[in-house]
Amino acid sequence: MAAKTVLVTGAGRGLGRELARQYAASGWQVIGCSRSRPADGFEAGIEYQPLDVADPASISMLESRLVGRPLDVLVNNAGVRSPFPGLDRLKPDEFLDVLRINTLGPLLLTRALRANMRLATDPVVANIGSRAGSMAEGLLDDDDDDYAYRCSKAALNMATVQLARDLLPDGITVLSLHPGWVKTDMGGAAAVLPAEESARALRSIIAAAKPERSGAFLAFDGRVVSW
Ligand SMILES: NC(=O)c1ccc[n+]([C@@H]2O[C@H](COP(=O)([O-])OP(=O)(O)OC[C@H]3O[C@@H](n4cnc5c(N)ncnc54)[C@H](OP(=O)(O)O)[C@@H]3O)[C@@H](O)[C@H]2O)c1
Repeated sequence: MAAKTVLVTGAGRGLGRELARQYAASGWQVIGCSRSRPADGFEAGIEYQPLDVADPASISMLESRLVGRPLDVLVNNAGVRSPFPGLDRLKPDEFLDVLRINTLGPLLLTRALRANMRLATDPVVANIGSRAGSMAEGLLDDDDDDYAYRCSKAALNMATVQLARDLLPDGITVLSLHPGWVKTDMGGAAAVLPAEESARALRSIIAAAKPERSGAFLAFDGRVVSW
């Protein structure tokens, strides 16, 4: 049986890097996308493809390079926080930059690679969201005031739900996944979850994804996150 193929955005470091590494170690064909090739290179078995998810032209070029290649899993992982959190420091252009990367990027990339996913059996789009974007749970135990980040992840949830409906005829399952508070550059040193554990848990959720659960918002431990 041919190896399955996964494409991971933001694969140069952090959670994306670990997801790419684990998929490759499990025998998958891995397309690791990042803005530039990591200085220390990718692990064996990971094919590098340049991609800036904030740039529609970069997405189009990737689409052209991948024509005809089946894609089993698309992990929209690349993401940023705002350098200017807080209401008083909020800057309009910078707010929109965060949405461009965290929300519009995954949407445009999913559209661009839809034809590739149609060539696969039971394909899955995994949008790496965040509980910080949950209106019901995001503020419960998190006093973060990063408006751009929270809004971008809430909007990504809506994109997940709409995509789930639109891609149903193609048999493509779409999920929003909260990876936990992960020890990466973004999560910081105080984070509780090693990237290895988060990636392992996310891979098993993706592996178990079913079309009837398409549009769900799930945490790394399988719990349903409230919208
Ligand atoms: N860490 C956490 O606790 C946590 C919690 C909830 C959700 N998340 C989500 O998990 C995902 C991964 O986060 P992380 O913790 O691994 O963050 P990270 O360590 O800061 O890594 C972010 C990744 O996104 C890439 N990226 C940023 N802007 C990009 C662009 N325009 N085009 C392509 N790639 C871009 C970065 O690439 P460069 O190296 O080129 O900058 C990097 O590979 C994000 O979506 C984040 O929101 C993380």
